[in-house]
Amino acid sequence: MVGLASDYGAPSARSDRNCTVPRFLVAYYSWTGNTEKVANLIAETLSADIERIRDAEPRGGPFAFPSAVVASLLKSSPPISQPTKNVADYDVVILGCPVWASNMATPMRTYIMRENPGIKQVALFCTLGGSGGKAALARMAALCGRAPLADLIVNGIATYSGNWRGLTESFARQVQTQPVRKSDAASHAPAAA
Ligand SMILES: Cc1cc2nc3c(=O)[nH]c(=O)nc-3n(C[C@H](O)[C@H](O)[C@H](O)COP(=O)(O)O)c2cc1C
Repeated sequence: MVGLASDYGAPSARSDRNCTVPRFLVAYYSWTGNTEKVANLIAETLSADIERIRDAEPRGGPFAFPSAVVASLLKSSPPISQPTKNVADYDVVILGCPVWASNMATPMRTYIMRENPGIKQVALFCTLGGSGGKAALARMAALCGRAPLADLIVNGIATYSGNWRGLTESFARQVQTQPVRKSDAASHAPAAA
């Protein structure tokens, strides 16, 4: 269940309600650290606040990988820890996660299902090892019930192949230059994802 505004940490000074600078939140899930690197660079480039989406129960053991694949194929939404930031305090929420079985990592599904009603505008990114990035982003957009301001697929970050830093910075600048709607969250009808 989404907490009340008072349950959350205060937004940073740049994201104060009286400030005219757009307020950005990077909300990401990362199991093995790749998505976290991209999330940190986006947050640094935008001076954004950051929310790490955490599993409520630790992932581990010999069956963790196949379990995650199956859960992703079944479109599960596992329990996550209570978020620390209130999405309603931000103009744009940038959602990022790894691709699991050509879909979003399942904790991101839980986060979107909980938080989407309070989100004003979204931008999306994912990291992956080979294929399924477009499908995963399309499913995230469908679950959010709207098109993202911008999106980014980071392939091969684990091997540091490709210009992931350049791509990430350019994505962040794209988000920054989009017109930001100041109105409150509209009703977004999520589609099957
Ligand atoms: C359960 C699971 C399923 C995955 N499925 C895919 C996939 O369908 N396509 C792909 O390119 N990479 C896949 N990967 C690789 C991850 O997307 C990639 O390593 C990602 O960068 C990991 O991000 P993280 O370090 O933030 O957890 C999968 C990884 C895991 C753990």
